[in-house]
Amino acid sequence: MEREFANKVVLVTGAASGIGKATALVFAEQGANVVVADIGSDGCDATVELIKAAGGNALAITADISDETAVRSMLDSTIKHYGRLDHACNNAGILGSMLPLTADYSVDTFDKVIAVNLRGTWLCMKYEIPLLLKSGGTIVNTASIAGLVGFPTLSAYVAGKHGILGLTKTAALEYATQNIRINAVCPGGVRTPMAGFTGENDAAAEAASAQYAPNGRVAEPEEIADAIMWLSSNRSSYVNGHGLVVDAGSTVR
Ligand SMILES: NC(=O)c1ccc[n+]([C@@H]2O[C@H](COP(=O)([O-])OP(=O)(O)OC[C@H]3O[C@@H](n4cnc5c(N)ncnc54)[C@H](O)[C@@H]3O)[C@@H](O)[C@H]2O)c1
Repeated sequence: MEREFANKVVLVTGAASGIGKATALVFAEQGANVVVADIGSDGCDATVELIKAAGGNALAITADISDETAVRSMLDSTIKHYGRLDHACNNAGILGSMLPLTADYSVDTFDKVIAVNLRGTWLCMKYEIPLLLKSGGTIVNTASIAGLVGFPTLSAYVAGKHGILGLTKTAALEYATQNIRINAVCPGGVRTPMAGFTGENDAAAEAASAQYAPNGRVAEPEEIADAIMWLSSNRSSYVNGHGLVVDAGSTVR
């Protein structure tokens, strides 16, 4: 049976770790040529090695998504190497600080979080869309349940993730007749370094994340990757401008 993404070119940002790494691996398993992009070059290389060891095809690109020149060059390198882009997963992000209340939040941290999470996602879309217009395709942005509800002490992160859903909806409407679908995923707590799973105090991270989940456990990165893959596939052909919540129901309480 032909694999679902055979010969497709898929770009995943933040693919050195966590959800992005799981997403890159699952697309490669389904036959895609995967562009593994991240600000961290060692992690990019490690993900590419895993893909190649499993018989897949991948290209590592080191890029800071908050830097316009780097984003343009990331897409130029994609075209130079693979000749096309079919699916983009704009997943890279940072949490920023988790302690201060809104009035105490640092201006520098606020600017940094918005520059990466919101402006960075938009920059990726800006340079991906002209490529996707050539033969159609999809974009899936990684938002968060923090794009739907407030979280005390995370004002920049919450604002940026709400903004990603706004960008997703707007671009989805703009390109709906041009064979491009644009959606987002909104994960709850996921077992990644961003959620405190660094290997040092994972039990505390598990307890912190699991307390919000009605099923009492944190999500595995692969469970979010599967949602990203579904939104990228033809199986979701009538889904557009959607923020797919993957949180075991924590936001429907
Ligand atoms: N882990 C969670 O609980 C959770 C929940 C909801 C949403 N998310 C979102 O999922 C996405 C992936 O996060 P994760 O949990 O896998 O975290 P992670 O820290 O494991 O991975 C994030 C990756 O993004 C990369 N990155 C950071 N800044 C970058 C930049 N400027 N340019 C390029 N790459 C950059 C990092 O190097 C890292 O490899 C993020 O957008 C995050 O906000 C995570």
